Amino acid sequence: MAQKNDRSSRIRGFQALNHEERLKAVAEFAGLEPDALDPLRDTGNLPFPLADRLVENVIGTMTVPIGIATNMLVDGRDVLVPMATEESSVIAAVCNAAKQCRETGGFTTSTTAPQMIAQIQLVEVPDPELARQKILKRREAIKKLCDRQDPLLVELGGGLADIEVRVLETAGGSMVITHLIVDTRDAMGANAVNTMAEALAPKIAEWTGGRVYLRILSNLADRRLARAHAIWSLDAIATAELSGEAVRDGILSASHFAAADPYRAATHNKGIMNGVTAVVLATGNDTRAIEAGAHAYAARSGRYTSLSRWESTADGDLVGVLELPLAVGTVGGATKLHPTARLCLEIMGIETAEALQRVIAAVGLAQNFAALKALATVGVQHGHMRLHAQNIALMAGAVGDEVTAVAEAMVARGTVRQDVAAQELARLRDGGSK
Ligand code: MEV
Repeated sequence: MAQKNDRSSRIRGFQALNHEERLKAVAEFAGLEPDALDPLRDTGNLPFPLADRLVENVIGTMTVPIGIATNMLVDGRDVLVPMATEESSVIAAVCNAAKQCRETGGFTTSTTAPQMIAQIQLVEVPDPELARQKILKRREAIKKLCDRQDPLLVELGGGLADIEVRVLETAGGSMVITHLIVDTRDAMGANAVNTMAEALAPKIAEWTGGRVYLRILSNLADRRLARAHAIWSLDAIATAELSGEAVRDGILSASHFAAADPYRAATHNKGIMNGVTAVVLATGNDTRAIEAGAHAYAARSGRYTSLSRWESTADGDLVGVLELPLAVGTVGGATKLHPTARLCLEIMGIETAEALQRVIAAVGLAQNFAALKALATVGVQHGHMRLHAQNIALMAGAVGDEVTAVAEAMVARGTVRQDVAAQELARLRDGGSK
């Protein structure tokens, strides 16, 4: 519905309104009947008072389905993985990929230490190289000051692990960039490292005579990596139409394409992130931090490339390897507060951030395998069609059993479009007479 232009979005005190009052204000602004906002009244598995504490000006919640990825064997442990996604075929793809590598041991993973980086930007230093030395020689004082900000983290074995200082040439002149490298244990760590950076910044200005601007974590979490690899035997990947060798060679060729071409790499990595982000979201972690880190890592050589690599083993089987930064936590924020996020961790039997990283990396690799196999064989539309057809049937107004009937009719006709769905729905309601 078109909105009238004479309404102002300058709503004073919106934050102080209760749920109904906010809905009323929004309905009035948007020219909607109060009942039209009913979907926002039902906040589902996130009670309104909790949602209202997590973010500001809450009017409702956005529910996405959570599905379970079955068949996952990660480091010898069977795990059911909850995935939150609105995209059809993503979960089925992981189930299939995981099934096909169970015989060969499933996914093997590893991680680095859980280190995050906070950056402190120092400008207007006449002697940047000397400033760098002045900061570096105070490593012990810096450690003391940083660790004092978070005694609990230190008690748990975390805290400042090291510092790095870089002189950066920029369009705005030389800058001295200090990196605080902090072991954040099971926390994602943004709060911990930002607090440390803010506490240390005035000292850096004092020691060097420069001026400090930004004090914030880097999402290029390249010291917090997770890796997964898995082997798929030729027998397991053969299809009714194609031999295992043919499927493997198609996947290898797709991998070479993605490694060489940023246009393809973006899509290849998007497929990986379909799986990664779904688990990140289901566990209440920061999806944007993970996406930013993954894509920045993919471009770390100066040229954007694929996050995974595929090879043939000495026996001719297919091996896939994925490595990416995964700054996730199992304590703090929505991870702890959102009841569904907590439950998702419980379903996986996961308590530590490291265990979560391992499962996420495995899911990312499974997702990549499934996409490349489909692309190298029948194409993605084939598997996608049935679920997609159901969505289109729903959009055309089908309800209950009509959804499957209309979807199947469209698949049988080989055309999945809303106008075709409308025709099939009309035919069905007419007793199939048209
Ligand atoms: C679609 O969401 C993901 C794919 O495009 C990934 C890929 O092309 O590798 C199928």
